[in-house]
Amino acid sequence: MRVPLCLALFLTLAAPAQGLRGLVVSQEQLASEAGAQVLREGGTAVDAAVATAFALAVVHPAAGNLGGGGFLLSRPASGQAAFLDFREAAPATAHPRMWLREDGTYDEARHHESLAAVGVPGTVAGLRAAWRREGRLSWARLLRPAIRLAREGFVLTENQAASLEKQLPEFRKHPPTLAQFSRRGEALRAGDRLVQGDLARTLERLAKDWRDFYRGATARLVVRDMRANGGLLTAADLRAYRPQWGKPLRGTYRGVEVLAAPPPSSGGQVLIEALNVLEGYDLKAAGPASATSVHLASEALRRAFADRAQFLGDPAFNGDLPLARLLSKGHAASLRATIRLDRASTSAPDRFTWPADRPDTTHLSVLDRMGNAVSLTYTLEDSYGLKRVVPGAGFLLNNELGDFNAGPGLTDATGLIGTTPNLAQPGKRPLSSMCPVILAQGGNVLLVSGSPGGRTIPSTVLNTVLNVVDFRMDARSAVDAPRFHHQWLPDRIQVEADLPAATQAALKALGHTLKEVKKQGCAQVILVRDGHPEGAADTRRWPDSAVAVE
Ligand code: DON
Repeated sequence: MRVPLCLALFLTLAAPAQGLRGLVVSQEQLASEAGAQVLREGGTAVDAAVATAFALAVVHPAAGNLGGGGFLLSRPASGQAAFLDFREAAPATAHPRMWLREDGTYDEARHHESLAAVGVPGTVAGLRAAWRREGRLSWARLLRPAIRLAREGFVLTENQAASLEKQLPEFRKHPPTLAQFSRRGEALRAGDRLVQGDLARTLERLAKDWRDFYRGATARLVVRDMRANGGLLTAADLRAYRPQWGKPLRGTYRGVEVLAAPPPSSGGQVLIEALNVLEGYDLKAAGPASATSVHLASEALRRAFADRAQFLGDPAFNGDLPLARLLSKGHAASLRATIRLDRASTSAPDRFTWPADRPDTTHLSVLDRMGNAVSLTYTLEDSYGLKRVVPGAGFLLNNELGDFNAGPGLTDATGLIGTTPNLAQPGKRPLSSMCPVILAQGGNVLLVSGSPGGRTIPSTVLNTVLNVVDFRMDARSAVDAPRFHHQWLPDRIQVEADLPAATQAALKALGHTLKEVKKQGCAQVILVRDGHPEGAADTRRWPDSAVAVE
């Protein structure tokens, strides 16, 4: 059920939301509200994140999910920060040449659009692992809002209806998807109620026993669909899946502690490496959105992304990842020495480039009144993943294995990459760019954030960090300021259209090529200033994004 309109407006529009109470910021108001209600009942930040994530799986099917995976960064007020990797894993039959045809040519459709691209979903096991470690309310309580939203349905916003309608041609290829997200093949409209009965029943089974997803009725539905339609996941693959706890990557930027996602994400490496480079410049004097600060940040990103392409992959399969060196201040100094203030560098395309990844993922940020912070980004990879609802189970499958490299040696000018660290292997997790982040200062949380956007994610997070640390913006301004992105190759700066024309002209004069986009990312931000948490939801690309206050 929706909260009353006046309250919804307050929750959505009172930005930045201030106060000493906990906050949840996500891409859907109903999901943020599910998390905030958990905080009101005495739940922890992890409890709220779990409830919000399950609710997003119902009300934000483009990226909220049961059938995908992601990363969770937790910084308890009183303890060690921890990182949970619940990224999808490749099945036991995966191999480096699995995206090639018999004649050795690359099969893009198989890599991105077939059931072979589905990784073992990590979300359910991940949310369970997070709850076991830091949850306080009952597991069943945390699934309750999602179950209700699926069983009773919810009223579609303009934005949700438009997003579903855009996908109808794709959904038509998968009858269970069409049945779930249309009215007998016709587009649902704003104001229509979306009821998802199969999904409600799956969630009810998970509320009783989460293992159902990996070894019960839900697992059987997944395996049956795989067998019938050329998928690779087996019952043994599902049973073997384990989320992994580890330590976040840790850096410092102008005295602020930066905690971010380690491999198999590249998010933390790109972010911290770029921040280390930028620490050597006075960005504050240069000013936000100035040609100097955009130039320097782009040059820093160019170099961090080049290192990403060369070195990063699942650490379980790349024992020699040189992370300590890449994240050292010395490496940053040597990169800085190659940056000129008066001229753009060029990216040497004789190193490598990347496979394309597609736009949809979602981030949520939580802070509870105790100061425990959770930053969670999860994804199906493409918008609505493979667009395929598992028949009878009501949830969409990911196409995450598309994040693996195309095939050994397959590096070419069209953007394929064939480097070893991120080739498919049994049980391996594909390299990600997702970058949940938490900043702390003087022992207290300063910023909780993250974003969707594929390889633009570390850049969006970098923009937010610079806006907060260097330019001292409040949460709202830090979210709304124009963003930019550089990823080494293609050799250009992607800029949002509202980056001032004079800045754009000055960047071109330095030798940069610019690519203008309307919107980059969807960063959900909690910023704590003078002990007061401010939430700011990013509505530039997804107008439903909302802050809910405890
Ligand atoms: O893990 C990754 O980096 C990608 N699969 C995420 C895709 C994504 O963010 C698209 N979002 N807008």
